Amino acid sequence: AKSVAENITKQSFKINREKREVLLKQQPIVVWFTGLSGSGKSTMSNLLENELHESGFKTYALDGDNIRHGLCNDLAFTDEDRVENIRRIGEVSKLFVDAGIVVLSSFVSPFKEDRDRVKHLVGEHRFIEVFVDCPIEICEQRDVKGLYKKAREGQIKNFTGIDSPFELPKNPDVVLKTAGESPQESLEKLLKVVESKISLR
Ligand code: PPS
Repeated sequence: AKSVAENITKQSFKINREKREVLLKQQPIVVWFTGLSGSGKSTMSNLLENELHESGFKTYALDGDNIRHGLCNDLAFTDEDRVENIRRIGEVSKLFVDAGIVVLSSFVSPFKEDRDRVKHLVGEHRFIEVFVDCPIEICEQRDVKGLYKKAREGQIKNFTGIDSPFELPKNPDVVLKTAGESPQESLEKLLKVVESKISLR
């Protein structure tokens, strides 16, 4: 998207991320969950956040359904709107990282380019890409929100995995097979990878 910010100068404040990191005693990162609707992104984000919170981390979870009711309530599910959705979430994630917070973002985020852009925006060393890998047949069987049924009946257009693409992550930091492993097993895998970026103890 074209930037119209040419006459805007960045301000630097005395209190920066480094100082907040010292105060909060933690290294802020973004744990980014990507996957089909119903794959288990929010479930896993919830479990991880609970674990981190219990260990004393200051966290914040950003989630598709919530953000689409507020910040992104002007966006639909065309390719263009999804790109803009993820661009905004990326910027918000970056602000939270700047605030010193451990961010858990769960969005379908079906396009590789958009996920990569967020990764570079927040910094590769602060970004963990989690592919919540669940076969569409299982997501559709679960159909927690009844959306697959509606999509099959043609009541919802551009539904991811049906008439809108999901580009597989090429090199995710961790893959959670939510159809084959228990939530606890997935959580253990996640914690190991998170632990490699920030010390959990
Ligand atoms: S995206 O692609 O990253 O911009 O999508 P996201 O913001 O994560 O929103 C996905 C949730 O919106 C519901 N929903 C749809 N998903 C995919 N395609 C279409 N057309 C659609 N319409 C509504 C759906 O409940 C998604 O929630 P999750 O939690 O992923 O099931």
